[in-house]
Amino acid sequence: PSFVMGIDLGGTSVKLGLLRGEELVARDQISTAHCDEPSDVFRRAREFSVAALHRHGATFDALESVGLAMAGVIDEATATLMETANLHAWHGIGFHQELARVFQKPVAVINDANAAALGESSFGEHRTDSLSFLTLGTGIGGGIIVAGRAINGSHGCGGEIGHVTIEHGPDARQCGCGRAGHLEAYAGAAGIVKTALEQLEATDQPSSLGAVDELTPEIISAAAECGDAIAMETVRRTGVHLGRAIAMLAHIADPAVVLLGGAVNFGGNQTRTGRAFLRTIRSEMVRLSLVQTGETLKIDFATLGNDAGMLGAAQHARQLTHQADPSC
Ligand code: BGC
Ligand code: NA
Repeated sequence: PSFVMGIDLGGTSVKLGLLRGEELVARDQISTAHCDEPSDVFRRAREFSVAALHRHGATFDALESVGLAMAGVIDEATATLMETANLHAWHGIGFHQELARVFQKPVAVINDANAAALGESSFGEHRTDSLSFLTLGTGIGGGIIVAGRAINGSHGCGGEIGHVTIEHGPDARQCGCGRAGHLEAYAGAAGIVKTALEQLEATDQPSSLGAVDELTPEIISAAAECGDAIAMETVRRTGVHLGRAIAMLAHIADPAVVLLGGAVNFGGNQTRTGRAFLRTIRSEMVRLSLVQTGETLKIDFATLGNDAGMLGAAQHARQLTHQADPSC
């Protein structure tokens, strides 16, 4: 089987992976701190692939295609980053051309969460070709897999679940994209901190969070695990916000499974807090949903961790290359 490469371009690091068939045979991670331009990243990715292919007794010719995952709304034809809530420095850059110039191979660019969704649907423990995925981090990403393919949509906005509106009215919070009331403003890392701060301001209930200078979701998570009431309520409210968005998803795409990836998961299935978080999400979704989907839709934590995007980027490249080849 031939090789494909996946690149997951994040805000602080870039994950690289080389796949032979379904198997991840080499991986690496580079920091974006020393990369001013995307072509720096791509040159280093190419060096990695040449060396990794060599270690597996292959030449650069054996590399079939390259997939790149990155945050933001991506125009599929030119792979230009059209709109971004968090990666402002690279707005408007035509990544497709850059990547193709460096690699001289067929390339494909995909939204980071769409890629992670594809990774989970192809390689994860809950693999199925009908899956929706949310990634919980600085931003909230989403990916909708139907019949094994990620829905990019007609404008690159398919699956942008972080930017569905869950709160209206004058008090709705501002999102990084400039609009108000979006899920990301509530359940993204900064939104979670804000939910805790709002409660600290509104009550004189004692809380270990009150003494902390710079709150993070991790600190809130640890405090919730120790029974801190404000921290626990913050986790609950975050779950309610996500449950609302997932109920919308359930009535639009009706997936078999919804998976939650990303680092901001309150410990996932490993902790009491993470499990309570999941229960809240589920019960809010059930409360808002038609019986048929509400009672059977499975919601769980994703299983591939940080590898999902890189694996999905490679899978996306393979799907597109095969689609283009009439002999397959
Ligand atoms: C962006 C998405 C991205 C997500 C996670 C959101 O703010 O709009 O494109 O998938 O963050 O990185
Ligand atoms: Na997406």
